[in-house]
Amino acid sequence: MIDTLRELEATALRELNAIEDEEGLERWRVQYLGKKGAVTQTLRGLGALPPEERPAVGQAANALRDKLEAEFAQRQKRLLEMAAQRALSAERIDVTLPGREVSLGQIHPLTSTLNEILNIFVMMGFQVVEGPEVEWDYYNFEALNIPPNHPARDMWDTFYVDADHRVGEMLLRTHTSPNQVRVMEKTRPPVRVVVPGKCYRYEAVDASHEAMFYQVEGLAVDEGITLADLKGVLTSFAHLMFGRDRRVRFRCDYFPFVEPGAEMAVECWVCRGQGCRLCKNTGWIEIMGAGMVHPRVLERVGYDPSIYTGFAFGMGPERVAMLRYGIDDIRLFYGNDLRFLRQFR
Ligand code: FA5
Repeated sequence: MIDTLRELEATALRELNAIEDEEGLERWRVQYLGKKGAVTQTLRGLGALPPEERPAVGQAANALRDKLEAEFAQRQKRLLEMAAQRALSAERIDVTLPGREVSLGQIHPLTSTLNEILNIFVMMGFQVVEGPEVEWDYYNFEALNIPPNHPARDMWDTFYVDADHRVGEMLLRTHTSPNQVRVMEKTRPPVRVVVPGKCYRYEAVDASHEAMFYQVEGLAVDEGITLADLKGVLTSFAHLMFGRDRRVRFRCDYFPFVEPGAEMAVECWVCRGQGCRLCKNTGWIEIMGAGMVHPRVLERVGYDPSIYTGFAFGMGPERVAMLRYGIDDIRLFYGNDLRFLRQFR
């Protein structure tokens, strides 16, 4: 009997050491140490032995049970350790690996240019206001001295909201000038405002023309404002925006809502006045239209033109940004090409 127990021990231990997983371990426990297991059965069978053999066999069987229980616990611990080791090596973190760069957004070059333009005028005492992009024909044209069928309407290729574009209907504003009238209708002089916003024209798109673009309108009305104020403010703006060495040029221009009217151009950045594709070989880039507010526009909003005078301007921030950064095609601003945009971080 003692020999049988020794054999049982040897077999049980050999099997135990070969076990690699939880289930195998549980099967082994049931087989040897469970209620119907080999060792328990042996202990139960003690009664059937002759009395003189019982103590020795009983002792040996108890010792075997203790030993197998201890070995079982050992193996269980070892298997847990091995599993933990495997998990650790599978999930190892390499702390020396360089971190992944977080991709931060950035301000679009046009937005930052727009902000700079506005800041310069705010510094000079102008207030920023906004107006609607879908506009009445009245504000876009009529109130600006451009009656129905006036040839000056041809200066702006208009997107009408109503396909028949009947007078009195709505349109996508072709410029920010309607806000001159909107502001003056609501306030009394002195007025000093800048109005940024998108404008729309049915344009043949090229290097300097888009169908959707921004403008910044400016308006100053008070007693005693002259053309000298217009030139002074806009020249100061150009110097602050582009630097003192950049030349500016004022030339006569026609807009029905100003008298006299002018256009302001800045020396072309790309060719420094030599002539190139961007400036159409003129050496200059027109950035805005301007002039003294027409007396009839003032009268229409109830301002007395014998007391009040004012100047207005409408500039293109895309052109300003192009001059500032040396960009030779306006379409790049709206192309959504990250290779272009990332240069302005
Ligand atoms: C006007 O729109 C007048 N409202 C400006 C004005 C305001 C005159 C107040 C007098 C008093 P013009 O069409 O020239 O004028 O446009 C003004 C500026 O807007 C241009 O100098 C240019 O910088 C910009 N601009 C005009 N059309 C486009 C276009 N298709 N794409 C990009 N910029 C444009």
